[in-house]
Amino acid sequence: MPDLHGKTALVTGAGRGIGAAIALDLARAGADVVINYSRSQAQAAEVQKAIQSLGQRAMTVQADVSQKTQIDRMFDQIEGAWGPVDILVNNAGIEFRKPVREITEELYDQVMDTNLKGAFFCAQRALEGMKQKGWGRVINISSVHEITPTGFCCVYSMSKGGMRLMMRELALEYSRFGITVNNVAPGAIRTDINREVLSDPAYEAKVISKIPAGFIGMPEDVSKMVVFLASDEARYITGAVILIDGGLGLR
Ligand code: BGC
Repeated sequence: MPDLHGKTALVTGAGRGIGAAIALDLARAGADVVINYSRSQAQAAEVQKAIQSLGQRAMTVQADVSQKTQIDRMFDQIEGAWGPVDILVNNAGIEFRKPVREITEELYDQVMDTNLKGAFFCAQRALEGMKQKGWGRVINISSVHEITPTGFCCVYSMSKGGMRLMMRELALEYSRFGITVNNVAPGAIRTDINREVLSDPAYEAKVISKIPAGFIGMPEDVSKMVVFLASDEARYITGAVILIDGGLGLR
């Protein structure tokens, strides 16, 4: 098991779903964890309690990452309390399932600003602290749809496609400083983001029929890879996209 003792991790959107699983698994490996949330205050407090009961430090910080001023306030708060973060997991993300003609400017901005702009400005802020330490990890939770179009979520996949080149740019510029930058790209995973659509058995069966592995993944299928990428063992992996999708992206 990778050892992350002495490291500080920030996981955005960590109140629930994949982010919560990542926060917990990073703590199991020994990291102290900042749980960022935008609206899931009660769930974030639960994750904090669970991490503290593992014997690691945990703090919750409210910030909507679509707003740069809130990102700056969050980093000021974290750095003031614990110093610079060693591991950034850009996990916060939203999606709206709508046909192209129904996408308003407001929805477009909401998705792009949360998924792509937010990830960029969190990385920009974290990378400078990592550079000074000569060690750092930036792990973006993108999607199989950073490569494959969805057919149901145009702006979402555009934001994830942007995350792909953002990751490659950051890796190119920062890997010489002991920092790695990678994307973990999940496919269909059981979380709140798709709970509603998957509650229709016919839709669920349709989704499963497209997955070569034949089942929908769990948040822990993603979080184990994030812990590995955060560790020293993964020092030579940078600029990579790790698909965790049961083969969905093969189609
Ligand atoms: C989306 C899910 C979807 C999955 C597979 C993910 O990026 O968030 O809603 O089920 O891709 O299409």
